[in-house]
Amino acid sequence: MIVVTGADGYIGWVTALRLAEAFPEEEILGIDNFARRRWVRRVNGFSFTDVPSIRARMAAARRKRPNLRFQAMDLRRPDAAECLLQRERPRAVVHLAAQPSAPFASQSLRHAHLTCDINNGITRNLVFAIRGCGEPVHLVMTTTMGIYGAPNFPIPEGRLTVQVDGSEDTIPYPGMATSWYHMSKANDANTLYLAHRIWRLPITELRTAITYGLNWNDFQEDPSLVTRLDCDPYFGVVVHRFCAQGATGAGLTVYGLGRLRKPFISVESAALSLVRAVAAGNPGEYRIYNQVTDVVGIEELAHLVQGEAAARGIACPVTHVPNPRVENETHPMRVHCEGFLRDLGPFSDDLRSEVGNLVEFFLSRTDRARRSLGLFP
Ligand SMILES: NC(=O)c1ccc[n+]([C@@H]2O[C@H](COP(=O)([O-])OP(=O)(O)OC[C@H]3O[C@@H](n4cnc5c(N)ncnc54)[C@H](O)[C@@H]3O)[C@@H](O)[C@H]2O)c1
Repeated sequence: MIVVTGADGYIGWVTALRLAEAFPEEEILGIDNFARRRWVRRVNGFSFTDVPSIRARMAAARRKRPNLRFQAMDLRRPDAAECLLQRERPRAVVHLAAQPSAPFASQSLRHAHLTCDINNGITRNLVFAIRGCGEPVHLVMTTTMGIYGAPNFPIPEGRLTVQVDGSEDTIPYPGMATSWYHMSKANDANTLYLAHRIWRLPITELRTAITYGLNWNDFQEDPSLVTRLDCDPYFGVVVHRFCAQGATGAGLTVYGLGRLRKPFISVESAALSLVRAVAAGNPGEYRIYNQVTDVVGIEELAHLVQGEAAARGIACPVTHVPNPRVENETHPMRVHCEGFLRDLGPFSDDLRSEVGNLVEFFLSRTDRARRSLGLFP
Protein backbone atom coordinates (compact mmCIF):
# COMPACT_ATOMS: atom_id res chain seq x y z
CA MET A 1 0.00 0.00 0.00
CA ILE A 2 1.26 3.44 -0.97
CA VAL A 3 -0.21 6.75 0.23
CA VAL A 4 -0.12 9.93 -1.90
CA THR A 5 -0.94 13.18 -0.11
CA GLY A 6 -2.16 16.10 -2.23
CA ALA A 7 -3.69 13.61 -4.68
CA ASP A 8 -6.32 16.09 -5.91
CA GLY A 9 -3.58 18.56 -6.86
CA TYR A 10 -1.72 19.32 -10.07
CA ILE A 11 1.24 16.94 -9.62
CA GLY A 12 -0.52 14.68 -7.12
CA TRP A 13 -3.31 13.59 -9.45
CA VAL A 14 -0.89 12.51 -12.19
CA THR A 15 1.34 10.82 -9.60
CA ALA A 16 -1.61 8.87 -8.18
CA LEU A 17 -2.52 7.63 -11.68
CA ARG A 18 1.07 6.65 -12.49
CA LEU A 19 1.56 4.87 -9.15
CA ALA A 20 -1.65 2.88 -9.70
CA GLU A 21 -0.33 1.82 -13.14
CA ALA A 22 3.19 1.04 -11.94
CA PHE A 23 2.04 -1.08 -8.95
CA PRO A 24 -1.21 -2.74 -10.13
CA GLU A 25 -1.12 -5.33 -7.34
CA GLU A 26 -0.86 -2.72 -4.63
CA GLU A 27 -3.44 -0.35 -3.23
CA ILE A 28 -2.74 3.36 -3.87
CA LEU A 29 -4.54 5.68 -1.45
CA GLY A 30 -4.87 9.36 -2.40
CA ILE A 31 -5.42 11.92 0.38
CA ASP A 32 -6.52 15.55 0.00
CA ASN A 33 -8.70 18.17 1.71
CA PHE A 34 -9.45 20.17 -1.51
CA ALA A 35 -7.79 23.30 -0.10
CA ARG A 36 -6.28 24.08 -3.51
CA ARG A 37 -9.71 24.28 -5.12
CA ARG A 38 -10.82 26.74 -2.40
CA TRP A 39 -7.67 28.91 -2.57
CA VAL A 40 -7.94 29.22 -6.35
CA ARG A 41 -11.60 30.29 -6.07
CA ARG A 42 -10.60 32.84 -3.42
CA VAL A 43 -8.26 34.61 -5.87
CA ASN A 44 -10.94 34.46 -8.62
CA GLY A 45 -8.87 31.89 -10.49
CA PHE A 46 -9.98 28.70 -12.20
CA SER A 47 -8.48 25.63 -13.80
CA PHE A 48 -8.28 25.76 -17.60
CA THR A 49 -9.06 22.07 -17.65
CA ASP A 50 -12.50 21.08 -16.39
CA VAL A 51 -11.58 19.28 -13.21
CA PRO A 52 -14.60 17.26 -12.13
CA SER A 53 -15.55 16.39 -8.56
CA ILE A 54 -13.29 13.89 -6.84
CA ARG A 55 -16.07 11.31 -7.10
CA ALA A 56 -16.22 11.70 -10.91
CA ARG A 57 -12.46 11.74 -11.45
CA MET A 58 -12.02 8.68 -9.20
CA ALA A 59 -14.80 6.82 -11.04
CA ALA A 60 -13.02 7.54 -14.34
CA ALA A 61 -9.62 6.56 -12.93
CA ARG A 62 -10.82 3.32 -11.34
CA ARG A 63 -12.23 1.97 -14.61
CA LYS A 64 -8.67 1.02 -15.61
CA ARG A 65 -6.96 1.35 -12.21
CA PRO A 66 -9.19 -0.40 -9.66
CA ASN A 67 -6.35 -0.33 -7.11
CA LEU A 68 -6.70 3.47 -6.71
CA ARG A 69 -8.65 4.74 -3.70
CA PHE A 70 -9.26 8.20 -2.24
CA GLN A 71 -9.99 9.54 1.20
CA ALA A 72 -10.72 13.17 2.10
CA MET A 73 -8.56 14.16 5.06
CA ASP A 74 -7.08 17.33 6.55
CA LEU A 75 -3.48 16.49 7.37
CA ARG A 76 -3.18 19.54 9.64
CA ARG A 77 -4.83 17.37 12.29
CA PRO A 78 -2.04 15.37 13.98
CA ASP A 79 -4.47 12.56 14.83
CA ALA A 80 -5.48 12.26 11.16
CA ALA A 81 -1.92 11.52 10.03
CA GLU A 82 -1.43 9.20 13.00
CA CYS A 83 -4.62 7.19 12.30
CA LEU A 84 -3.76 7.03 8.60
CA LEU A 85 -0.35 5.47 9.27
CA GLN A 86 -1.61 3.14 12.02
CA ARG A 87 -4.57 1.92 9.98
CA GLU A 88 -3.09 1.64 6.49
CA ARG A 89 0.50 0.62 7.31
CA PRO A 90 1.80 1.88 3.95
CA ARG A 91 5.27 0.93 2.72
CA ALA A 92 5.72 4.43 1.28
CA VAL A 93 4.15 7.89 1.62
CA VAL A 94 4.52 10.27 -1.32
CA HIS A 95 3.95 13.64 0.32
CA LEU A 96 2.81 16.41 -2.03
CA ALA A 97 0.13 18.17 0.04
CA ALA A 98 1.00 21.82 0.60
CA GLN A 99 0.11 25.42 -0.06
CA PRO A 100 2.42 25.70 -3.10
CA SER A 101 2.25 29.36 -4.16
CA ALA A 102 4.79 32.07 -3.32
CA PRO A 103 2.55 35.00 -4.43
CA PHE A 104 -0.37 33.56 -2.40
CA ALA A 105 1.82 33.31 0.70
CA SER A 106 3.17 36.84 0.20
CA GLN A 107 -0.24 38.57 0.23
CA SER A 108 -0.26 39.30 3.96
CA LEU A 109 0.95 38.14 7.35
CA ARG A 110 -2.14 35.91 7.53
CA HIS A 111 -1.25 34.21 4.22
CA ALA A 112 2.39 33.77 5.26
CA HIS A 113 1.23 32.21 8.55
CA LEU A 114 -1.25 29.97 6.75
CA THR A 115 1.41 28.73 4.33
CA CYS A 116 4.08 28.06 6.95
CA ASP A 117 1.59 26.54 9.40
CA ILE A 118 0.13 24.19 6.79
CA ASN A 119 3.35 23.16 5.06
CA ASN A 120 5.49 22.75 8.16
CA GLY A 121 2.64 21.42 10.30
CA ILE A 122 1.61 18.62 7.96
CA THR A 123 5.20 17.55 7.28
CA ARG A 124 5.85 17.40 11.04
CA ASN A 125 2.59 15.47 11.55
CA LEU A 126 3.66 12.94 8.93
CA VAL A 127 7.19 12.32 10.23
CA PHE A 128 5.85 11.86 13.77
CA ALA A 129 3.11 9.53 12.46
CA ILE A 130 5.70 7.49 10.55
CA ARG A 131 7.94 7.35 13.59
CA GLY A 132 4.92 6.33 15.72
CA CYS A 133 3.94 3.39 13.55
CA GLY A 134 7.34 1.81 14.13
CA GLU A 135 7.87 0.67 10.53
CA PRO A 136 10.57 1.94 8.14
CA VAL A 137 7.99 3.72 5.93
CA HIS A 138 9.73 5.40 3.00
CA LEU A 139 8.82 9.09 2.89
CA VAL A 140 9.13 10.55 -0.61
CA MET A 141 8.53 14.29 -0.59
CA THR A 142 8.72 17.26 -2.93
CA THR A 143 10.22 20.47 -1.64
CA THR A 144 11.44 23.04 -4.17
CA MET A 145 14.49 24.28 -6.06
CA GLY A 146 13.57 27.67 -4.54
CA ILE A 147 15.30 26.59 -1.33
CA TYR A 148 18.65 27.32 -2.99
CA GLY A 149 18.11 30.99 -3.83
CA ALA A 150 20.50 32.38 -6.44
CA PRO A 151 24.08 31.52 -5.44
CA ASN A 152 27.20 32.42 -7.44
CA PHE A 153 28.16 28.77 -7.81
CA PRO A 154 26.55 25.72 -9.40
CA ILE A 155 23.73 24.44 -7.18
CA PRO A 156 24.61 21.06 -5.62
CA GLU A 157 22.06 18.33 -4.86
CA GLY A 158 21.12 19.27 -1.32
CA ARG A 159 24.48 19.39 0.43
CA LEU A 160 27.53 21.62 0.51
CA THR A 161 31.09 20.70 1.34
CA VAL A 162 32.56 23.61 3.27
CA GLN A 163 35.96 24.40 4.70
CA VAL A 164 36.37 26.41 7.87
CA ASP A 165 39.83 27.12 9.33
CA GLY A 166 41.35 24.25 7.39
CA SER A 167 38.72 21.66 8.42
CA GLU A 168 36.13 20.29 6.01
CA ASP A 169 32.58 18.99 6.44
CA THR A 170 29.51 18.28 4.32
CA ILE A 171 26.41 20.06 5.61
CA PRO A 172 22.81 20.62 4.44
CA TYR A 173 22.54 23.52 1.99
CA PRO A 174 21.12 26.44 4.00
CA GLY A 175 17.68 27.91 3.35
CA MET A 176 18.40 30.81 0.96
CA ALA A 177 14.82 31.12 -0.27
CA THR A 178 13.41 34.50 -1.28
CA SER A 179 9.72 34.02 -0.40
CA TRP A 180 7.72 32.86 2.61
CA TYR A 181 6.46 29.85 0.67
CA HIS A 182 9.93 28.78 -0.46
CA MET A 183 11.28 29.32 3.06
CA SER A 184 8.49 27.10 4.42
CA LYS A 185 9.90 24.37 2.17
CA ALA A 186 13.44 25.06 3.47
CA ASN A 187 11.99 24.57 6.95
CA ASP A 188 10.40 21.31 5.74
CA ALA A 189 13.84 20.19 4.54
CA ASN A 190 15.16 20.91 8.05
CA THR A 191 12.35 18.77 9.48
CA LEU A 192 13.30 15.91 7.14
CA TYR A 193 16.97 16.27 8.08
CA LEU A 194 16.15 16.10 11.79
CA ALA A 195 13.68 13.20 11.43
CA HIS A 196 16.32 11.24 9.56
CA ARG A 197 19.09 12.15 11.95
CA ILE A 198 17.32 11.24 15.17
CA TRP A 199 15.05 8.41 13.95
CA ARG A 200 16.86 7.17 10.79
CA LEU A 201 13.66 7.53 8.76
CA PRO A 202 14.18 6.54 5.11
CA ILE A 203 13.60 9.78 3.20
CA THR A 204 13.83 10.77 -0.45
CA GLU A 205 13.45 14.52 -0.93
CA LEU A 206 12.96 15.87 -4.44
CA ARG A 207 13.64 19.56 -4.90
CA THR A 208 11.05 20.24 -7.55
CA ALA A 209 11.59 22.65 -10.45
CA ILE A 210 8.85 24.80 -12.02
CA THR A 211 6.43 22.18 -13.27
CA TYR A 212 4.55 22.60 -16.53
CA GLY A 213 2.27 20.85 -19.00
CA LEU A 214 -0.54 18.35 -18.91
CA ASN A 215 -1.06 14.57 -18.83
CA TRP A 216 -2.22 14.46 -22.45
CA ASN A 217 -2.59 10.68 -22.79
CA ASP A 218 -4.95 10.50 -19.81
CA PHE A 219 -6.81 13.51 -21.21
CA GLN A 220 -7.30 11.59 -24.46
CA GLU A 221 -8.38 8.44 -22.63
CA ASP A 222 -11.05 10.38 -20.71
CA PRO A 223 -11.22 14.18 -20.19
CA SER A 224 -12.14 13.53 -16.51
CA LEU A 225 -8.59 12.21 -16.01
CA VAL A 226 -6.80 15.42 -16.90
CA THR A 227 -5.03 17.29 -14.12
CA ARG A 228 -5.71 20.93 -13.25
CA LEU A 229 -4.00 23.80 -15.10
CA ASP A 230 -3.88 27.26 -13.54
CA CYS A 231 -2.83 30.52 -15.06
CA ASP A 232 -3.79 33.21 -12.55
CA PRO A 233 -1.23 35.51 -10.84
CA TYR A 234 -1.13 33.28 -7.75
CA PHE A 235 -1.23 29.68 -8.90
CA GLY A 236 -0.11 29.93 -12.55
CA VAL A 237 3.50 29.21 -13.54
CA VAL A 238 5.43 31.23 -16.09
CA VAL A 239 5.24 28.60 -18.87
CA HIS A 240 1.45 28.51 -18.66
CA ARG A 241 1.13 32.30 -18.48
CA PHE A 242 3.36 32.83 -21.54
CA CYS A 243 1.45 30.16 -23.50
CA ALA A 244 -1.90 31.78 -22.62
CA GLN A 245 -0.51 35.18 -23.65
CA GLY A 246 0.88 33.64 -26.85
CA ALA A 247 -2.46 32.04 -27.78
CA THR A 248 -4.36 35.31 -27.32
CA GLY A 249 -1.76 37.40 -29.17
CA ALA A 250 -1.22 39.48 -26.02
CA GLY A 251 2.32 40.67 -25.29
CA LEU A 252 4.50 38.10 -23.51
CA THR A 253 5.32 39.98 -20.31
CA VAL A 254 8.82 39.30 -19.04
CA TYR A 255 9.35 40.54 -15.47
CA GLY A 256 12.28 42.99 -15.39
CA LEU A 257 15.31 42.09 -17.50
CA GLY A 258 14.29 38.41 -17.52
CA ARG A 259 17.87 37.36 -18.13
CA LEU A 260 17.82 34.91 -15.23
CA ARG A 261 17.72 31.16 -15.84
CA LYS A 262 15.20 28.94 -14.05
CA PRO A 263 14.79 25.17 -13.62
CA PHE A 264 11.88 23.30 -15.24
CA ILE A 265 10.33 19.82 -15.42
CA SER A 266 7.18 18.49 -17.07
CA VAL A 267 4.37 17.22 -14.86
CA GLU A 268 4.74 13.75 -16.44
CA SER A 269 8.45 13.57 -15.58
CA ALA A 270 7.79 14.90 -12.09
CA ALA A 271 5.26 12.08 -11.53
CA LEU A 272 7.47 9.46 -13.19
CA SER A 273 10.44 10.33 -10.99
CA LEU A 274 8.25 10.04 -7.87
CA VAL A 275 7.12 6.59 -8.99
CA ARG A 276 10.75 5.60 -9.62
CA ALA A 277 11.76 6.93 -6.20
CA VAL A 278 9.16 4.62 -4.63
CA ALA A 279 10.27 1.70 -6.82
CA ALA A 280 13.92 2.26 -5.88
CA GLY A 281 13.13 1.81 -2.19
CA ASN A 282 15.31 3.32 0.51
CA PRO A 283 17.26 1.33 3.10
CA GLY A 284 17.29 4.19 5.62
CA GLU A 285 19.10 7.04 3.88
CA TYR A 286 18.26 10.71 3.46
CA ARG A 287 18.52 11.16 -0.31
CA ILE A 288 18.15 14.55 -1.95
CA TYR A 289 17.64 15.06 -5.69
CA ASN A 290 17.23 18.18 -7.82
CA GLN A 291 14.07 17.28 -9.76
CA VAL A 292 15.03 19.21 -12.89
CA THR A 293 15.17 18.33 -16.59
CA ASP A 294 15.86 21.79 -18.13
CA VAL A 295 17.35 25.11 -17.08
CA VAL A 296 16.14 27.90 -19.37
CA GLY A 297 16.34 31.72 -19.42
CA ILE A 298 12.99 33.48 -18.92
CA GLU A 299 13.52 35.76 -21.91
CA GLU A 300 14.57 32.72 -23.94
CA LEU A 301 11.36 30.95 -22.86
CA ALA A 302 9.30 33.96 -23.99
CA HIS A 303 10.96 33.81 -27.44
CA LEU A 304 10.33 30.06 -27.60
CA VAL A 305 6.60 30.66 -26.94
CA GLN A 306 6.61 33.55 -29.40
CA GLY A 307 7.99 31.17 -32.06
CA GLU A 308 5.34 28.51 -31.35
CA ALA A 309 2.60 31.14 -31.52
CA ALA A 310 4.05 32.51 -34.79
CA ALA A 311 4.04 28.97 -36.23
CA ARG A 312 0.27 29.05 -35.63
CA GLY A 313 -0.15 32.45 -37.30
CA ILE A 314 -0.24 34.56 -34.13
CA ALA A 315 2.06 37.53 -33.68
CA CYS A 316 2.82 38.46 -30.08
CA PRO A 317 5.53 40.85 -28.95
CA VAL A 318 7.86 40.15 -26.03
CA THR A 319 7.65 43.08 -23.62
CA HIS A 320 9.41 43.83 -20.34
CA VAL A 321 7.32 44.98 -17.35
CA PRO A 322 8.37 46.09 -13.86
CA ASN A 323 9.33 43.06 -11.80
CA PRO A 324 6.87 42.38 -8.95
CA ARG A 325 9.44 40.01 -7.39
CA VAL A 326 12.68 40.56 -5.52
CA GLU A 327 15.12 38.51 -7.59
CA ASN A 328 18.47 38.66 -9.36
CA GLU A 329 17.25 39.35 -12.92
CA THR A 330 20.46 38.12 -14.52
CA HIS A 331 21.19 35.07 -12.37
CA PRO A 332 22.85 32.45 -14.64
CA MET A 333 21.53 29.47 -12.67
CA ARG A 334 23.66 26.35 -12.96
CA VAL A 335 22.24 23.18 -11.43
CA HIS A 336 23.68 19.79 -10.60
CA CYS A 337 21.10 17.08 -11.17
CA GLU A 338 23.35 14.15 -12.06
CA GLY A 339 22.08 12.07 -9.14
CA PHE A 340 18.48 12.69 -10.19
CA LEU A 341 19.13 11.69 -13.80
CA ARG A 342 21.29 8.69 -12.81
CA ASP A 343 18.97 7.21 -10.18
CA LEU A 344 15.53 8.28 -11.36
CA GLY A 345 15.98 9.04 -15.10
CA PRO A 346 15.92 8.97 -18.03
CA PHE A 347 13.26 11.51 -19.02
CA SER A 348 12.06 12.61 -22.43
CA ASP A 349 11.04 16.21 -21.71
CA ASP A 350 10.75 18.43 -24.77
CA LEU A 351 9.91 21.94 -23.58
CA ARG A 352 9.41 23.29 -27.12
CA SER A 353 6.91 20.63 -28.13
CA GLU A 354 5.01 20.93 -24.83
CA VAL A 355 4.86 24.71 -25.34
CA GLY A 356 3.37 24.03 -28.79
CA ASN A 357 0.78 21.69 -27.24
CA LEU A 358 -0.10 24.27 -24.60
CA VAL A 359 -0.45 27.12 -27.11
CA GLU A 360 -2.84 24.88 -29.11
CA PHE A 361 -4.72 24.07 -25.91
CA PHE A 362 -5.09 27.74 -24.95
CA LEU A 363 -6.15 28.55 -28.54
CA SER A 364 -9.25 26.46 -27.92
CA ARG A 365 -9.91 28.46 -24.73
CA THR A 366 -9.03 32.05 -25.63
CA ASP A 367 -12.01 33.50 -23.71
CA ARG A 368 -10.83 31.86 -20.51
CA ALA A 369 -7.24 32.86 -21.28
CA ARG A 370 -8.25 36.53 -21.60
CA ARG A 371 -10.28 36.30 -18.37
CA SER A 372 -7.31 34.78 -16.56
CA LEU A 373 -4.78 37.26 -17.97
CA GLY A 374 -7.15 40.05 -16.88
CA LEU A 375 -6.44 39.04 -13.27
CA PHE A 376 -2.84 40.25 -13.59
CA PRO A 377 -2.23 43.81 -12.33
N1 LIG B 1 3.86 22.84 -9.34
C1 LIG B 1 5.11 23.32 -9.22
O1 LIG B 1 5.60 24.05 -10.11
C2 LIG B 1 5.92 23.00 -8.00
C3 LIG B 1 7.26 23.46 -7.96
C4 LIG B 1 8.03 23.18 -6.82
C5 LIG B 1 7.49 22.43 -5.79
N2 LIG B 1 6.20 21.99 -5.86
C6 LIG B 1 5.68 21.22 -4.70
O2 LIG B 1 5.08 20.02 -5.17
C7 LIG B 1 3.93 19.69 -4.37
C8 LIG B 1 2.70 19.58 -5.25
O3 LIG B 1 2.51 20.83 -5.93
P1 LIG B 1 1.26 21.09 -6.85
O4 LIG B 1 1.65 22.11 -7.84
O5 LIG B 1 0.69 19.80 -7.31
O6 LIG B 1 0.28 21.79 -5.80
P2 LIG B 1 -1.30 21.59 -5.62
O7 LIG B 1 -1.78 22.73 -4.80
O8 LIG B 1 -1.96 21.39 -6.93
O9 LIG B 1 -1.38 20.23 -4.79
C9 LIG B 1 -1.27 20.19 -3.38
C10 LIG B 1 -2.50 19.52 -2.84
O10 LIG B 1 -2.41 19.45 -1.41
C11 LIG B 1 -3.70 19.61 -0.89
N3 LIG B 1 -3.63 20.03 0.51
C12 LIG B 1 -3.23 21.25 0.98
N4 LIG B 1 -3.36 21.29 2.32
C13 LIG B 1 -3.79 20.07 2.70
C14 LIG B 1 -4.12 19.49 3.96
N5 LIG B 1 -4.03 20.20 5.09
N6 LIG B 1 -4.55 18.21 4.00
C15 LIG B 1 -4.67 17.49 2.86
N7 LIG B 1 -4.39 17.99 1.63
C16 LIG B 1 -3.95 19.26 1.55
C17 LIG B 1 -4.36 20.65 -1.78
O11 LIG B 1 -5.77 20.59 -1.73
C18 LIG B 1 -3.80 20.27 -3.16
O12 LIG B 1 -4.70 19.46 -3.89
C19 LIG B 1 3.83 20.80 -3.32
O13 LIG B 1 4.48 20.36 -2.16
C20 LIG B 1 4.59 21.95 -3.94
O14 LIG B 1 5.11 22.80 -2.95
C21 LIG B 1 5.40 22.26 -6.92
